[in-house]
Amino acid sequence: MLNHSPQPLIRFALGACLCASLSACNNDAPAQPTLPLPPAPVFIAQKHCLACHTTDAEVRAPLWPNIADHYKGDKEAVNKLSEKIIKGGSGSFGSTKMPAQYKNITTDEAKYLAEWILKQK
Ligand code: HEC
Repeated sequence: MLNHSPQPLIRFALGACLCASLSACNNDAPAQPTLPLPPAPVFIAQKHCLACHTTDAEVRAPLWPNIADHYKGDKEAVNKLSEKIIKGGSGSFGSTKMPAQYKNITTDEAKYLAEWILKQK
């Protein structure tokens, strides 16, 4: 008599569910991509960048056009800026630190925003 026990399959399914729910609870998990991406100005507002980067006065963070100006002609600017957006840091515009955004946006989304920021005048 053949005994095709369904047990291993059930165990596998349970394990997969547990794993998925655990990773959903992990607070350190990187951001999940938002697709399709909205236009950059809308996306920047959705990602709360404007809490510090206002568009009229430099209060807590540099203005987008000043950032664009600072990196004019720098071929590595998109990479540098997206890395800074993800990891946070200070030193480019003073000692105020920008908090890391990796829980908020993905690297590709940061690149998308960096490209837009670099075009602001
Ligand atoms: C809590 C305030 C805060 C928030 C929120 C914030 N930033 Fe910043 N950001 C800063 C500060 C302060 C600096 C200046 C850091 C420096 O001098 O290196 C900065 C610098 C930058 C720079 C220039 C980095 C460099 O090294 O030249 C970019 C690009 C940038 N932010 C993009 C963003 C984007 C995109 C978001 C939203 C996802 C965002 N920031 C959210 C405070 C903030």
